[in-house]
Amino acid sequence: MIFQIRKDERKIFEVIGRAAEDLNFPTYVVGGYVRDRLLARPSKDLDIVCVGSGIDLARRVGDCLHPRSRVTVYKRFGTAALKHRDLEIEFVGARKESYRSDSRKPTVESGTLADDQNRRDFTINALAISLNKHDYGTIIDPFNGLEDLEAKRIVTPLEPGKTFSDDPLRMMRAIRFATQLGFTIDPATFRSISENKERIKIISWERIATELNKIMLASRPSIGLRLLDKSGLLDYVLPELAALRGVESRNGRKHKDNFIHTTKVVDNLAERSDDLWLRWAALLHDIGKAKTKRWEAEAGWTFHAHDAVGERMVPKVFRRLRLPNDKLKYVQKLVALHQRPISLTQEEISDSAVRRILFDAGDDIDDLMTLCQSDITSKNPHKVKRYLENYEGLRQRMSEIEEKDHLRNWQPPITGELIMETFGIPPSREVGLIKDGVREAILDGAIPNEYSAAYERMLVVAADLDLSPQKS
Ligand code: CTP
Repeated sequence: MIFQIRKDERKIFEVIGRAAEDLNFPTYVVGGYVRDRLLARPSKDLDIVCVGSGIDLARRVGDCLHPRSRVTVYKRFGTAALKHRDLEIEFVGARKESYRSDSRKPTVESGTLADDQNRRDFTINALAISLNKHDYGTIIDPFNGLEDLEAKRIVTPLEPGKTFSDDPLRMMRAIRFATQLGFTIDPATFRSISENKERIKIISWERIATELNKIMLASRPSIGLRLLDKSGLLDYVLPELAALRGVESRNGRKHKDNFIHTTKVVDNLAERSDDLWLRWAALLHDIGKAKTKRWEAEAGWTFHAHDAVGERMVPKVFRRLRLPNDKLKYVQKLVALHQRPISLTQEEISDSAVRRILFDAGDDIDDLMTLCQSDITSKNPHKVKRYLENYEGLRQRMSEIEEKDHLRNWQPPITGELIMETFGIPPSREVGLIKDGVREAILDGAIPNEYSAAYERMLVVAADLDLSPQKS
């Protein structure tokens, strides 16, 4: 089959083809670029394999481009890269690799195009397009990758046990591609993931997290989360989530499967937001449920304080997966607060309760509400409608109170410095007590959120502590 080269590709492909001919290196476009182009997905990383030196070819291509392109050489890997328009182009010599069982570091020898295709992860990633004169544009497809693209199938080119033990990260990649592309994993390939799951332990957490994040950013992350579960990889990668799996029944009363529920919440959220960290908050919102599950004769199954317990579990997940520290507090906050809005829709609530959630959530109040809306997974459309209307009502009320009281990102009108100065006291417990007293009065609605009322209240709280203002 001949690949339909697009207008914008014509020039760069021809330049590479000509440079390759000058050097007498058979040269091909390979891997993800070919796959994504055939699937009509955007692709910015162009990988070029040649039978010869990738570094020499890159230099030659760099010289032939107008304007000339700067080549970055990675000597240690024998690769070189250059930028052309919005493409990142990487050049590498075709290789044969063999791996040792205790490491992912391969020993590398040069090889033919066929050797290079053999060592790739999936048939759909092993397609090559020739840039050579005699068969320019021909797709070279030794493993029927085109058929698998058509059938939407992830399958390894070699016996799957070999492909996965060569590089166990590929188990995560299989699941990630299935999620991103909506493909199914071939049964023998999937069985092999289950059999080799322990080998994932030799992969660094950073690389595992990169794949997890790609799963989380897909339009339906639940596909990947459930495959991770089914293959057994979840027990190693996110045991806190694996612990949510299952349903228990007592006296005919069942609780829901909190793992399945979580995957639905993540999908619901993915429909509302592309924010990776809000999606992580959805993934982790119920992780406290396994530890807090109790059977109570009257109430049935309960998960008291699972929000607070979950909040305390988040740092360990972040540390293990090397997730960024500056996102930790945000995810923790949403996990901690995710039950609050529900309680605000259930009863006749006071302005003060609404003020408190505005104060506690600060700038993240909209994200919190989005999480809560996504947390509705009832199959009963009437209930879903009612719950969503309740949240709409709450949002309305929040915006009225916010307009009146300006509590979002609230800065206390009375600072610690002012308290110390007014009463001539050093930093101490009393300073905190006075600040808390003023804040509580504002949140309770006992005084308005403004300086003079807060100053008066400060004097009252201080008097209770036997403090009076210093004469100046
Ligand atoms: N590859 C592999 N095994 C891996 C990683 C990569 O065989 N563990 C091969 C595949 O042929 C892949 C190519 O190297 O297509 C390029 O890898 P990479 O850029 O990581 O992935 P892409 O397939 O391009 O997909 P994405 O850009 O979505 O990560």
